[in-house]
Amino acid sequence: MGTAILGTGAYLPERVVTNQDLEKIVDTSDEWIQTRTGISTRRIGGQGDETYRLAARAAEKALQMAEVSAYEIDLIIVATISSHMLMPSCACFVQKELGAGRAFAFDINAACSGFVYALDLADKYIQADPNKKILVIGAETLSSRTNWDDRNTCILFGDGAGAVVLGHVEGNRGVIGAKLFSDGNLWRLLHMHTAASCNPELVQSESPGAHIVMEGREVFKYAVKAMEEAIILLLDQEQVALDAIKLVIPHQANIRILNKLVERLGIRAEKVFINVQKYGNTSAASIPIALDEANRDSRMQPGDIVLLCSFGGGFTWGATLIRW
Ligand code: ACO
Repeated sequence: MGTAILGTGAYLPERVVTNQDLEKIVDTSDEWIQTRTGISTRRIGGQGDETYRLAARAAEKALQMAEVSAYEIDLIIVATISSHMLMPSCACFVQKELGAGRAFAFDINAACSGFVYALDLADKYIQADPNKKILVIGAETLSSRTNWDDRNTCILFGDGAGAVVLGHVEGNRGVIGAKLFSDGNLWRLLHMHTAASCNPELVQSESPGAHIVMEGREVFKYAVKAMEEAIILLLDQEQVALDAIKLVIPHQANIRILNKLVERLGIRAEKVFINVQKYGNTSAASIPIALDEANRDSRMQPGDIVLLCSFGGGFTWGATLIRW
């Protein structure tokens, strides 16, 4: 018996922004962006594309695939760092959009690792009560939190949402296990301030504004090492051999991080699902978007072991094994 993914869904805003479009606003080039990140395009939201709306559209698709109604959902967890409001949570807005009247709802903030954290939480809820049906969503509009004058960061991110419906199933399908980590000592290397404080004594004088600030090279180094270690520890914990993994769905940060990780672990490149070229880095949304794409492309067969891994601001990182 286990916590299985009963349905997946994703939603991306319609507007496609190319590297050539970015050449017009910062000093960069398509060639630089492609070789350093692997990204060609990203989706950027417009009017009506608030994070909760993207999240709700992705959730509707996941519910449809799972053949579960919104009213049957007991809990909605949204992993996000870019909700349009701090209160209420993005998850409460999603509940309203879906009409999921029986659910309780909350957000979690673990940056790009938010989806693997939320999945672990949901798994624990279902282990405690197998009757529960849970929506786990990763959703971001990072375009609203990007400094569009900063060529170091603005080329990396995109908007989108992905969702899964989780429920208990008999047999050995479902979440096998997870390993999650954080290190708050390293917060400075990748962070985002909130908007101005109403208490003058609590104003952070160093605040550069409510947008992403990053030390790219340091993030790169830590990301590769941390994800590699998390995967090795998880495989050891669950006594699963690396060769047994059929598909790796990593956080889509950038192609060089993923290539390096694959090289260090010795995984065959064709086992790694990559769509960063189309959507850029969508933070907490990147794994569920990729999971949905892989699922709809029939990249996983029943019984296949799938590995998720992530790294993001905090720092936060982790890995999850699922038997599909
Ligand atoms: N276009 C052209 N030149 C640029 C751009 C750009 N968009 N951005 C930076 N440069 C320049 C820099 O100014 C620098 O110029 P200089 O040598 O004259 O000072 C030069 O390119 C090299 O800059 P670096 O930052 O050293 O470039 P690097 O090879 O490290 O690549 C990158 C930068 C792509 C950000 C890389 O460090 C990286 O991938 N880091 C990981 C960051 C990441 O993925 N963050 C996402 C959030 S965390 C996560 O999701 C895991």
